[in-house]
Amino acid sequence: MTDTAERTRTIPLARPDVGPRELELVTQVMTSDVLAMGPFTERFEEAIAAQSNRAYGVACASGTAGLHMAVRALGVEAGHEVITSPFSFVASVNCFLYEGARPVFVDIEEDSLGLDPDQIKSVASKKTKAILPVQVFGRPCRIHPIVEQARAAGWAIIEDSCEALGSSVDGRPLGSFGDISVFAFYPNKQITTGEGGMAVTDDPALAEVMRSLRNQGRDTDGTWLRHVRLGYNYRIDELSAAVGVAQMERLAELRRGRDRVVAAYERALAGRQWVQLPKAGPGEDVDWFVYVIRLAPEVDRDGLIQKLARRGVPSRPYFAPIHLQPYFRSTFGFKPGDFPVTERVAASTLAIPFSSRLADDDVAYVAEVLTEAVEAG
Ligand SMILES: Cc1ncc(COP(=O)(O)O)c(C=O)c1O
Repeated sequence: MTDTAERTRTIPLARPDVGPRELELVTQVMTSDVLAMGPFTERFEEAIAAQSNRAYGVACASGTAGLHMAVRALGVEAGHEVITSPFSFVASVNCFLYEGARPVFVDIEEDSLGLDPDQIKSVASKKTKAILPVQVFGRPCRIHPIVEQARAAGWAIIEDSCEALGSSVDGRPLGSFGDISVFAFYPNKQITTGEGGMAVTDDPALAEVMRSLRNQGRDTDGTWLRHVRLGYNYRIDELSAAVGVAQMERLAELRRGRDRVVAAYERALAGRQWVQLPKAGPGEDVDWFVYVIRLAPEVDRDGLIQKLARRGVPSRPYFAPIHLQPYFRSTFGFKPGDFPVTERVAASTLAIPFSSRLADDDVAYVAEVLTEAVEAG
């Protein structure tokens, strides 16, 4: 087949998996007169807290809102530094820039794609207030030595588990390691609410502050027009929360769908020297959020993206390093070469179509088109 061989199908890069149960619960909301701050928000909070083995869940408008509430609740402010990694989605840094804190990046580990615990000491300072590890693509970073160092130094831990619902390490769910951990539910995530997020914690005081922050700084005693702190409208609505409740009921089913797709890609791409497939490490159980392959250096990734697109297969570099974004370069003076592992990995990654609903023959088609495009040179 040549490149002009007609686009035989169009496959979405990601696809939400919502069905009759979501519709049923949304219909219940629509006929209940309670469209915000109602029982579905509470049920959703309970479901996520139980899944991540936490005492409290505070549902909110997005993962970014959840991270920002965590930053505020933990007292990160101007003059503080936060240690994190540049291989992430920009929101994991923006959340503390909002408060005037400074990012102190450490490079990632090539394997887990999480921040390298061995580099933490070299960047710690008296201004360090918090560390913000990111669980990338659903795979755990090397979290235990990160937590140990943070505890020894007295830093707050904000775990960005936005991409990691359902994954675990050594039997412990991701989202259970931070003073506050945060999940996100955009339609490409393991479960979706449309837009939505949730901060989880074991600390009742932090949960209470976040409930107030998301609701215009209102007092949690229920007094509607008493504002005790600067707050936001970060509330989730009941329709979104109802979708979340249904999705949580179906989490195991959705996971089975993703596992099927992962297995199908592994079969279809086995033995190809030019590609490294995502793989869990020892003790890790990964519910992948995206399927990001890594290409050998000789593959022209950008040319490949074009070739795949012509055949109806979307793909995307994932992530672009945060420190090289124009805003970060001009504000903080970051430049190419600052974080070589991040930059090398980012130059080789390619997210290919992935969702619980991706049919086996679509996986076979993606693998075939990919293989032809690479091997034809
Ligand atoms: C690592 C990471 N952090 C934060 C977020 C922010 O979540 P949201 O898009 O719901 O604001 C995302 C979502 O894409 C993410 O992948």
